[in-house]
Amino acid sequence: MSSSPSSQNTSPSSTLSTPAALWRLKPFVKPVIWRLAGGAASALIAAIIALMIPIVLEQIIGGPVRSGEISVIVFGALIVFALALGEAVMVWLRRQFVLNPATEVEYQMRTTLYSRLQTLPVSFHDRWQSGQLLSRMMQDIGLIRRWLAFGLVLLVVNILTIAIGSVLLFRWHWLLGTIFLVTAIPLWVRGYLFEKRYGALTRRSQDQAGDLATSVEESVHGIRVLKAFGRGKHALSRFSRQAETLRETEMSKARAISSIWFWLDLMPQIAFGVSLMSGIWLISQGAIDEAQLFAFFAMAVVLRWPIESIGFLFSFMLDARTATDRVFDIFSEINTITDPENPVHIENPRGELAFEAAHFRYQDAGAHERDLLDGIDLVLRPGETMALVGLTGSGKTTLTTLPTRLYDVTGGRVTLDGVDVRDLPLAELRQHIAMAFEDATLFSATVRENVLLGRADLDVHSEEGERALREALDVAQAAFVDSLPDGVDTVIGEEGLSLSGGQRQRLALARAVAAKPKVLVLDDPLSALDVDTEALVEEALRHVLADTTAMIVAHRPSTVALADRVALLEAGRVTAVGTHSELLKTSRHYRHVISSLEAEEAARTGSIPIIRDEEREVDEEVREGLRMSASDDASSGSATEMDKEVQR
Ligand SMILES: Nc1ncnc2c1ncn2[C@@H]1O[C@H](COP(=O)(O)OP(=O)(O)OP(=O)(O)O)[C@@H](O)[C@H]1O
Ligand SMILES: [Mg+2]
Repeated sequence: MSSSPSSQNTSPSSTLSTPAALWRLKPFVKPVIWRLAGGAASALIAAIIALMIPIVLEQIIGGPVRSGEISVIVFGALIVFALALGEAVMVWLRRQFVLNPATEVEYQMRTTLYSRLQTLPVSFHDRWQSGQLLSRMMQDIGLIRRWLAFGLVLLVVNILTIAIGSVLLFRWHWLLGTIFLVTAIPLWVRGYLFEKRYGALTRRSQDQAGDLATSVEESVHGIRVLKAFGRGKHALSRFSRQAETLRETEMSKARAISSIWFWLDLMPQIAFGVSLMSGIWLISQGAIDEAQLFAFFAMAVVLRWPIESIGFLFSFMLDARTATDRVFDIFSEINTITDPENPVHIENPRGELAFEAAHFRYQDAGAHERDLLDGIDLVLRPGETMALVGLTGSGKTTLTTLPTRLYDVTGGRVTLDGVDVRDLPLAELRQHIAMAFEDATLFSATVRENVLLGRADLDVHSEEGERALREALDVAQAAFVDSLPDGVDTVIGEEGLSLSGGQRQRLALARAVAAKPKVLVLDDPLSALDVDTEALVEEALRHVLADTTAMIVAHRPSTVALADRVALLEAGRVTAVGTHSELLKTSRHYRHVISSLEAEEAARTGSIPIIRDEEREVDEEVREGLRMSASDDASSGSATEMDKEVQR
């Protein structure tokens, strides 16, 4: 995967202010806003109750304690007890209110993000590392949930508590209130500076965690390769470097937090000390009495946590902002492959697939590079089977992704029955055209579900489903599924039984066939099969393909033989189209490609190459003359000297 949003990108990705950045959560929060408000109200009531306790204490100390009325003291104590109980109930109620909506928001965000990942084009997935997507999906959304449930509610409530508490502090004496607030100000300034630094660190650490997840995912996927090449140690040292980088970032975060906590601990102590001395002086002056000073300190104790927590809650808010940015990085990706505004429908397609001056280049291609597909002109007639042949890296796989719009052409167009594929609704297009890929991906599901993946119209367990399943399995020569432990209901894929490469390919082929498309695009679907099975599959395909237009990327001469015609892809263009024997006669490049396919085949099966001597000579000469212009042999219909040699 290429340049991806990763640890290089450590600043918040949006230039929005923090409130504006968080405001983007509104659509997710809106359905649960009343419950969140209920949580905030409960928290506020709890805070107000807590603030009432010092006032009651002041009354008790100032009145009954001084006069020694035991029954009134007990009554006062009961009030304090009731208030404390009320506060505890309100805190409990706050949790009840906020837990459910926060998990609801988390669930909604996760499913929306997942469906977004499904609809974003393949080109997006080329650019983004899977670990980044994973960490955004799990970690960041989880953090947003925690912030909504606790961070946001407590921030609002604690600010209100401080405001109310300060008014009450001033009620006892302006000097005490001022001391308390003045010492809080440096705390807030430090808190603000801390937030700025901490926000950047948080984003960096979240990005690095994403990179680390990518590494784990890659090495788990590639465990066989790593083991086979003894690269485990190398992978480990790369991993530990990344883990170390993340650790350093986490350490910086921890250092930032410890320095802010130093201030958070220090300033309130100073405030208490100064207030105590001032309080004693005020008592000596007769400005306040002992009961008031006691109540003042009780109130200061209640306010200490809200004041201290403000810095922490702000940094939590910044974490949430960063997480929101990271999630919205994905939401705000522009989806270029979407349903058309004015869709055209094709009820019963004939199955004519045409490429008209189709151009394509990958997004990361250099500006000076030529288009990978540089003006493809090719028409597949309805019901025709066309093999696509070309050297490795010539763009065959890329070409097969255009009809189903996994990628969109960057110039020209692809049409189905004369209609630009971009004018068809995507679901309809992909119903008409099915694909099987080079690497047969199966999902953690039963064989039945995997094969009938493209048949959303069918109940997989119905009789019709069973029929479609059997038909597809027959064509793909996949009878082996019946000897699996649970037959077609055996769970395969990552969570289930592992299948061999050839078995996987056959199921992928069955999946494409079961979709009953009008056009079938097969990217080298038979490469992992042995020659006998391939022959059987080809035979069965001939029946299925009878009224299906098929484009088959062929890496084997025997696959080419299945086709009505062959198209030769060379230097980004289709330089020759014709039957296998026609092309053998007329195209030097075709002979070169076929002979290299045969050589590969021979190397794979261990059989003696069946390249005729003449072809070998041709091949060698072609190798020497490879630099010659690509198009001259295609345009020349007349046989060259070498052609004549082959024909002899
Ligand atoms: N997702 C991608 N992003 C950028 N470049 C890509 C991507 N996929 C393929 N390419 C490049 O495009 C070129 C053509 O690749 P493609 O897979 O289409 O070749 P191919 O003809 O199918 O080869 P093979 O016969 O080996 O399967 C290659 O040079 C490859 O590096
Ligand atoms: Mg390919």
